[in-house]
Formats: sequence, structure tokens, C-alpha cells
Amino acid sequence: MTWRTDISTPGALRFTGGLLASACLAAASCAGVDSRVPSVSDAMLAAPPAHSKQSLENGRRLLLTACNRCHRVYEPASRDVGAWDSVLPAMAHKAGLSEADASDLRGYIMAAVQTAPYGR
Ligand code: HEC
Repeated sequence: MTWRTDISTPGALRFTGGLLASACLAAASCAGVDSRVPSVSDAMLAAPPAHSKQSLENGRRLLLTACNRCHRVYEPASRDVGAWDSVLPAMAHKAGLSEADASDLRGYIMAAVQTAPYGR
């Protein structure tokens, strides 16, 4: 089964601990963290509104480290822009993010949503 390989990937474990691994166990297959929460790409940098690479990378880091404490990481492509906008303010508050971090997180998620399925 492919998930065994995926969840033993050091990067996946380092970023997500057990919660995403559990989500992988429940799913029919697990694509691995990089296709679900993609690295910052040129396409994301080009997606409006403009964000710096540093800001987008900080947003991705926050999604993987601050947004998995109470539940699994929700991948950007799981929702559209409108659905994210209705849930993000409350979740950023729950996660205790500063305004700057909340803005970086929103920038990353929206860039990833717009470029899903992430250039593959
Ligand atoms: C303190 C715990 C906690 C943290 C931290 C947290 N969440 Fe949540 N999240 C919840 C709970 C509880 C729910 C389900 C009930 C609700 O919507 O409030 C939820 C639900 C969600 C949903 C589904 C909502 C829906 O209606 O579809 C998404 C998406 C989400 N969280 C994203 C995030 C993101 C992104 C972060 C990081 C900024 C985050 N969460 C951090 C507790 C948390």
C-alpha cells in the first residue's frame, strides 16, 4: 500500500506529526504532504494579489505547524476562496496568529487554491 511509503517520508513526519498521518490512513490513498500542501511555486508567486516568496513560505509553514493542533491540516484545494474566507478569521484567532501571520497564511492558501492542482 502506498501510504506506508508516504507517511514514512521524513518531510511529512517533520511537518505534520501524527495527525496528517491519521488522515492518510483513513483515506483510500495518500498523495503525501507536498502535493496536498504544495511548496511555493512560480505560479503561486504570479497569482494575484502579489505576495513575496518569504510571505508565502511563512504562510505554508503556519498551515503545517499552527493549523494541525486541533484537527488535521485542511489542504488548500479542499475549499474555494469564498469558503476559506468565511472560516479563516476564526481559525487564525483560534491558532493565536498575529495579524501579519494571518495575512501570510491567507496569502499562501489563496495562491495555492488558485493554482490547484498545483501545476501537475
Ligand atoms: C484551538 C483549536 C483549533 C485550531 C488551532 C485551528 N482550528 Fe480549525 N477548527 C477547529 C474546530 C473546533 C473546528 C470545527 C468547528 C468550527 O468550525 O469551529 C475547526 C474547523 C476547521 C475547518 C472546517 C470548517 C468548515 O466549516 O468547513 C477548517 C477549514 C479549519 N478549521 C482550518 C483551520 C486553519 C487553517 C487553522 C490555522 C489557522 C486552524 N483551523 C486552526 C479548531 C481549531
